[in-house]
Amino acid sequence: MKICITGGAGFIGSHIAEECVKKGYEVIVFDNFSTGKKENLSFVKNFPGSSLKIVKGDVADYKAVSKAVKGCNAIFHEAAVASVQKSIENPPATFESNAKGTLNVLEASRNNGVTKVIFACSAAIFGDHPEIPKREDSPVLPKSPYGADKYISEVYLRLYNELYNLTTVSLRYFNVFGPRQDPSSPYSGVISIFTTRIAQGKDITVFGDGKQYRDFIFVKDVVQANMLALEKINSGFHYYNVGYGKATDLNTLIAILKKIYNKDIKVNYAEARAGDIKESVTDPSKIIKELGFTPGYSVEEGLRILVESLQ
Ligand code: NAD
Ligand code: UD1
Repeated sequence: MKICITGGAGFIGSHIAEECVKKGYEVIVFDNFSTGKKENLSFVKNFPGSSLKIVKGDVADYKAVSKAVKGCNAIFHEAAVASVQKSIENPPATFESNAKGTLNVLEASRNNGVTKVIFACSAAIFGDHPEIPKREDSPVLPKSPYGADKYISEVYLRLYNELYNLTTVSLRYFNVFGPRQDPSSPYSGVISIFTTRIAQGKDITVFGDGKQYRDFIFVKDVVQANMLALEKINSGFHYYNVGYGKATDLNTLIAILKKIYNKDIKVNYAEARAGDIKESVTDPSKIIKELGFTPGYSVEEGLRILVESLQ
């Protein structure tokens, strides 16, 4: 099996790449290295004889995508600007990667005999619509250009199935955390920022009152969801919410981190960010029932593994 992973040098993409290499698949990582890193793919040295090719390119460049995916059976499409805040600062730039990039991946698949595209969608499509927990058919109401781009992408996934018979799967990740998540930008994922700063003995900042909550899911569980989609879905268009199914607010997250690090943490509170979602949690029953998904890591278990990996 030959697999292309766009964004494969990033946090989630590199974990998917690692699992594909473990399974003996031929892997092509397609990435522009805007946030991705070659080091994220260093696991490959543990698998002598494995096949992992790195192609530097941008998903906004149709020709480059088309060339990279030739001969692939399936694509995991992870490439995107992952920051909601960055999308609010520069909607057109984000659109190039996050919406046009998806259309290019679908069109390149259609024109090159790729049969399946599995897409990294997001809980951000739901915005702040009051229905909680989010189920697959909860109303969609994006609050950021990022959420809009992810939703447009999902609409194109449905169309490419209906019009061209491409098998498409949209996995709407909730808040993913784990090793290799880049903490270096103020717009990085909150857990990567908090764990890195705490390990360095620095203070942390909560935007808002800390009562906003998320459904934090460990990266290995997200890899499991992707592998199930690859192995079990062979036709149609499907969409699933991918979360652990438990709400954790930031104040609780900090309390868990205090316990794990066994030290006091200085917490500053600042004004809430524009476009920030307050409540986000899913009921993951659909993917559990239909694909046999078994999320295996609570927030505390995942955090313990992450903290250990940072030491
Ligand atoms: P990440 O920034 O670590 O990974 C994104 C990767 O895509 C990076 O390697 C980056 O270099 C690459 N990339 C960005 N723009 C590109 C472009 N135009 N062309 C080619 N490569 C490009 O972020 P991540 O957290 O691993 O996110 C992976 C995917 O999952 C993204 O699509 C993101 O929107 C989605 N997602 C992430 C989360 C989360 O909590 N981390 C939740 C929901 C959805
Ligand atoms: C995250 C992902 C996004 C994904 C979405 C799905 C990243 C960078 N963003 O967005 O790709 O689609 O989940 O739900 O991975 N916060 C602080 N202090 C900080 C940093 C953040 O208080 O130093 C707060 C934010 O204001 C927010 C919460 O923590 O309320 C979570 O922020 P963040 O980790 O950026 O995630 P989302 O915006 O939910």
